[in-house]
Amino acid sequence: MPGRSGNDASGRRKGPSGRSYRSKAGLTLQPKKMRGRKPSSQRWLTRQLNDPFVAETQARGLRSRAAIKLEQMDDKHHFLTPHMRVVDLGCAPGGWLQVVMKRCRIESGKGVLVGVDLLVVDPVPGAKLLVGDITETGILQQVHTAIEGKADAVLSDMAAATTGHRQTDHLRTMGLLEIALDFADQVLAPGGIFLAKAFRGGGDRQFQELLNQRFDKVRYIKPPASRSESVETYVLGTGFRGAPTDKQRDAGTKPQTGYSPI
Ligand SMILES: C[S@@+](CC[C@H](N)C(=O)[O-])C[C@H]1O[C@@H](n2cnc3c(N)ncnc32)[C@H](O)[C@@H]1O
Repeated sequence: MPGRSGNDASGRRKGPSGRSYRSKAGLTLQPKKMRGRKPSSQRWLTRQLNDPFVAETQARGLRSRAAIKLEQMDDKHHFLTPHMRVVDLGCAPGGWLQVVMKRCRIESGKGVLVGVDLLVVDPVPGAKLLVGDITETGILQQVHTAIEGKADAVLSDMAAATTGHRQTDHLRTMGLLEIALDFADQVLAPGGIFLAKAFRGGGDRQFQELLNQRFDKVRYIKPPASRSESVETYVLGTGFRGAPTDKQRDAGTKPQTGYSPI
């Protein structure tokens, strides 16, 4: 049965209307109903329609395109291992939860997966989901209870709601990143890993120092599914040693090296 979209006789993709389009920018598909939409919304729709990772997300039943980014990062750096205890900060709608469930074999009953978000997330069998703001102290206690001790990994894909003002958005996301690191200080076990969304740009050097104090190895990763025009990047810290004490901070020394599972 012919579908509403697919390829035309020349192999070019068709839109949902059955017609294929080629834009000046060289993009193959243009959404059908563009009139009355803001230019920014037109650009977003066109990009979505032509993005192979959006198509893959839908075809594989993943809850977010971000799930593919996590898979790509783990394919390269192998930080997700079976039976880990994982905290996923900013987990809605649940794409990263799906990936962690599978790769850490949480359903076997040995690992633990705790997700936190401001938004309610549809249940993910086997995951413990908390609704709350990670900037509020109460949520830390709830995570401690849910994770049953310490975590092997703290993941954060948190992003602040965008204002459209680039510098403000940058500062807000960097603020969330520091809060995520503070969270990791409280819950990570020695040797644990920290993976978090960051932005390339100002303020990174100071943050780098905070990471260097805590982790054996720190890398910045830009997975292929993260759009090249986006300033988004991810920071991966492995071999958690703990946060430096005031004395160590004053002396400029680092906590003792822990073991690294990677
Ligand atoms: C890009 S989405 C995460 C996508 C997710 N990794 C996935 O694969 O489905 C960012 C999330 O961060 C959450 N967030 C932002 N600030 C937060 C905060 N202070 N506390 C908890 N969640 C927060 C937002 O509600 C949003 O759902």
